[in-house]
Amino acid sequence: MSERKILVTSALPYANGSIHLGHLVEYIQTDIWVRFQKQRGNQCLYVCADDTHGTPIMLRADKEGITPEQLIAKVEKEHLEDFDDFGVAFDNFHSTHSEENKECSCLIYTRLRDGGHISKRTITQAYDPVKNMFLPDRFIKGDCPKCGAKEQYGDNCEACGATYSPIELKNAVSVVSGEKPIEKDSEHYFFNLADFTEMLDSWTKAEDHLQPEVRNKMAEWLENGLQQWDISRDAPYFGFEIPDAPGKYFYVWLDAPIGYMASFKNLCDKQGLDFDEYWGRDSDVELYHFIGKDIIYFHALFWPAMLSGANFRTPSAVFSHGFLTVNGEKMSKSRGTFIKARTYLEHLNPEYLRYYFAAKLTNGIDDLDLNFDDFSQRVNSDLVGKVVNIASRSSGFIKKRFDGKLSANCSEPELFQHFVDANALIAELYENREFGKAMREIMALADKANQYIDEKKPWLIAKEEGKDAELHDICSMGINLFRMLIAYLKPVIPALAENAESFLNIDIQAWPADAKPLLDHEIKKFKPLMTRVEADKIEAIIEASKEHLEKIAEPAVKKCEPIADTIEFDDFAKIDLRIAKIIKAEHVEGADKLLQLTVDIGDETRNVFAGIKSAYAPEELEGKLTVVVANLAPRKMRFGLSEGMVLAAGPGGKEIWVLNPDEGAQPGMRVK
Ligand code: MSP
Ligand code: ZN
Repeated sequence: MSERKILVTSALPYANGSIHLGHLVEYIQTDIWVRFQKQRGNQCLYVCADDTHGTPIMLRADKEGITPEQLIAKVEKEHLEDFDDFGVAFDNFHSTHSEENKECSCLIYTRLRDGGHISKRTITQAYDPVKNMFLPDRFIKGDCPKCGAKEQYGDNCEACGATYSPIELKNAVSVVSGEKPIEKDSEHYFFNLADFTEMLDSWTKAEDHLQPEVRNKMAEWLENGLQQWDISRDAPYFGFEIPDAPGKYFYVWLDAPIGYMASFKNLCDKQGLDFDEYWGRDSDVELYHFIGKDIIYFHALFWPAMLSGANFRTPSAVFSHGFLTVNGEKMSKSRGTFIKARTYLEHLNPEYLRYYFAAKLTNGIDDLDLNFDDFSQRVNSDLVGKVVNIASRSSGFIKKRFDGKLSANCSEPELFQHFVDANALIAELYENREFGKAMREIMALADKANQYIDEKKPWLIAKEEGKDAELHDICSMGINLFRMLIAYLKPVIPALAENAESFLNIDIQAWPADAKPLLDHEIKKFKPLMTRVEADKIEAIIEASKEHLEKIAEPAVKKCEPIADTIEFDDFAKIDLRIAKIIKAEHVEGADKLLQLTVDIGDETRNVFAGIKSAYAPEELEGKLTVVVANLAPRKMRFGLSEGMVLAAGPGGKEIWVLNPDEGAQPGMRVK
């Protein structure tokens, strides 16, 4: 097989926050895949960058009294240390605030404009008259124009699910200054996404570009018709000024994916690679983007359209993954499960987490749970109990009785060959990003190796006279099987693998497709390669993550809302409240507050959108009973029809609690 040329990216982390364990699902997943490709002998390059532009970064720098440039330099250093310590080995890590990115962004924009794909139009937006800036939707808060719920963001209501423009909010205030926003007109630049409907239709439908579940979602988006995409923002904005449009800046999401290209360009300059070979229209280099499912829209629609319109190649595939939950729940600052990479590193071995994520990853977009009991148990039993144990069981006799030298004879050639033959299946699983299945195959081999040693009982043979050769063969076999396991686990636990290679006294191992046993070979003294996970370390991480919150916690806790005006019973009776069973809960593509619920209300099922995504993971809800307003007029929302409203309490954000009836209530029962 000839060597493949592959370029791989992970999504660019925002430069206004720390890397946390959720991010690491993606960076570890990508890193494992890249390391696997390299081990196979393919030419695989892995590039990334910090995503540095936009209003939140500008405002945060402002708050800290530093320039955005100083802020992003500080964060980049922190991000790089985190990645490095987790063994995430980029070939290049760059920044979207770079010359290369400016050049690429302007080039792409100019080509799109010259191709007739950019239009201009004046829009009215909320404006902060004190800060003198236009306000993005989530920098405005006020009362919902439909239901009156307080403290709602500028785009939709978490209480009733209504969507609106921020101008419609009542008692609106700018989160930046606390001032009442005014309306102001401004000319904006739009990318005519609809020009690419046909291209995107065939791109998204092609067999290998997207995972099947993602492909279906895209088909829905395409059916609904593609809208123009607003790609400009007014000054003040931290970003790149649009060529020929002074005072207008590219929206952060325009130059963010171009950051992939820019980081690669920066690498080209360092290594003398040919940029056009990778990005030219007819490139046959493979290009893969690993991303989280929250940003599919940008990567599967905007990005291929931009590339195609600017005469560049499109991605070979976009690989999406699900979200991380901890102990079955959404990561939570108050529970101490919103864990930063650094906090973890202060207490535990990063390779525990790499292995655990690998063991749980599939090639789908389901969410993935980090359960700390399961985590300890798997790491201790698989890595320490099975894999490392083989080496420690075998190496002692080799050192003491045979001068550290392996036998010149392979006593079980079939067993060894069985380990070699497994390489094809394991490689296929890695290639298809079925890491969990790959780990199971490898652990099945580890079980075989341990069984072999258990059966041969070297500790008994060692006591018998005249059985030296047999003892030597058994222990040498153990070491040879251990070596195969390490070769297979190398993409996942590279640091352990490196230590094992130095213990085995061998060169860096390639993919062992035609490995031969080590015979008559001297090994080094065995040092413990990995210790067990200690439960108190996990508690310490959770404690430290809680502590951190107290330092940054906002002085929230508002008083209760005043009790509403008195009503007659008849008014109340007009509201038809029903017990409902949540039979399905899903994320809604493109909505950052909503979950889509399918609820059983007795004789029918309803589709309901609820603004509770900030507080619940879908799997927490499925199967639960709750209460819905069943006779609320259906509301047509951007994402579909909402046929009811789920009752919940709380101010919003993480603090939303869905109502639960006591046990025994049945779907369809009226609440009165
Ligand atoms: N800056 C954008 C990406 C631009 S790509 C051209 C962004 N940044 S992010 O920091 O919010 O997220 C970076 C990546 O981490 C995204 O792919 C995102 O889906 C992923 N994750 C962030 N939190 C996550 C979890 N809790 N779980 C799994 N992945 C998560 O989006
Ligand atoms: Zn509302």
